[in-house]
Amino acid sequence: MTWNCILERVAETKSTNDDLLARWRAGELIDPVARIAQKQTAGKGRAGRSWLANPEDSLCFSLAYPFRRNPAELSGLSLLVGLAVIAGIAGALEIPQSNLHQQGLRLKWPNDLLLNNAKLGGILIEGGQTKVGAPTWMIIGVGINLRNSAAIQTRLKNKNSLGVTSLDQLLPNGKTLPETELLWLKLLESFGQHLQEFDQKGFDVYRQQWMHWDAFQDTEVCITGSGNNPIIGIATGVDASGALLLLQENKTITIHAGDVSLRAKS
Ligand code: BTN
Repeated sequence: MTWNCILERVAETKSTNDDLLARWRAGELIDPVARIAQKQTAGKGRAGRSWLANPEDSLCFSLAYPFRRNPAELSGLSLLVGLAVIAGIAGALEIPQSNLHQQGLRLKWPNDLLLNNAKLGGILIEGGQTKVGAPTWMIIGVGINLRNSAAIQTRLKNKNSLGVTSLDQLLPNGKTLPETELLWLKLLESFGQHLQEFDQKGFDVYRQQWMHWDAFQDTEVCITGSGNNPIIGIATGVDASGALLLLQENKTITIHAGDVSLRAKS
């Protein structure tokens, strides 16, 4: 790790995202802080869901990061974080990204990590700007299943339409995962590089790269949760802001990340 980030390790907390959000709201954040918990008792997922993880079998952390951009200019952040996670995994496992891609690692818009269409990890981003001109603090929460995906799947039972998988599935036979601490530090190193460049240049420079990892490129998908009827179309990639491009008959519409979820149309 070469960038300036405070590291905090706790055995147990309700949610690392909530811990850092509370500090942001209290105006206590000055430098970036990364907080990892062995166990979360009230881990949060997107759209009000809970995040279930077995303490020994998962990596759960949050990073509070101050952006110079205002919140409206951070629209592609969740996609960028997916790319940062992939680069961090490649570094930690010492497996080239091309090999990870070949093995079926993908990103699902806007912010899920999939391995052969099963959920490997998730990203939850919260935060904002307290006043004009102040940095925009974003709390980036990451949960990755490391091993024993069957145990996680059992606890989830129907709560998630996707199957669940784990990081150890990417390893060659006989190899074991590195220590969670090393994995975390590799991810943070990658976050430091990606977030700094994103703050300077925005999402557009990462657009093609994101589309390379897109799990649903040219697939018929269904978008739900926006409060309206489900939206169906062919996913054709993302635009310069990270919005999903959906082809419907002969027109393309854009879907902005919010409380929407995407699944392949059955
Ligand atoms: C999702 O896929 O719904 C997002 C899951 C995000 C889980 C992580 S674990 C660390 C951080 N703390 C939380 O309470 N949630 C995020």
